[in-house]
Amino acid sequence: MNPSIPGRYADPSFTALEAGVLEWLDGFYQLEHLLNTRAWVIELCQGNASEALRFAALSHDAERFFPGGPSDTPANGFDDPDYLFAHSTRSADIVEAWMAEQGADAAFRRQVRRLILRHEIGGGWEADILQAADALSFLEVFDWLAVDWVRRGAYTIESAKEKLCWSMQRIRPPLALHRALPLFEAATRTLDAAFDIEIDLKARRQQASSRCFLLGESSHGIEQGGAA
Ligand SMILES: [Fe+2]
Repeated sequence: MNPSIPGRYADPSFTALEAGVLEWLDGFYQLEHLLNTRAWVIELCQGNASEALRFAALSHDAERFFPGGPSDTPANGFDDPDYLFAHSTRSADIVEAWMAEQGADAAFRRQVRRLILRHEIGGGWEADILQAADALSFLEVFDWLAVDWVRRGAYTIESAKEKLCWSMQRIRPPLALHRALPLFEAATRTLDAAFDIEIDLKARRQQASSRCFLLGESSHGIEQGGAA
């Protein structure tokens, strides 16, 4: 189990728009996943990730923070295109509207929109990087979510494993696949022990949702425990 560390995602290179999106999405249970996806994008691009790619990584799942979207525990398989397209399109629309409100440049908005629309399917090297970073991040920091799914009966252990397998199958860049293998093994071990491991899922969700905790800002008021 991968515990979260306060301040793990503090980064002086955040742009004003990135800082704004982190405030907008504060309280979203996927906030750590978004920050972690951005970190993977930077690593996979070896420091040359474009501003649009970093921003798309930080916002690509935003729609799940706002009621009215497709279920985040789909019944027809994690690779169901109807689900993937509905999720990607809703996220792109919501993020684009937010960027327009902030006065972001039209060409930048268009590039971010294209990447968010493609984040589940890839296509083009930047979208392939984002897709791979999304998968790497799921394997690295969402092992608790897969345990949560199983414990609340949304999936069996075997059906939740399909998400881990889907995460591996969708990775295209060889470097990302290499990095994913140990994460896949660790996430699979955690899922196999879903009913045996000690974890405070409520506390872990709180950590993963808190901008202050993740950026290491004072007064987050969250215990560091929550995972074992
Ligand atoms: Fe994601």
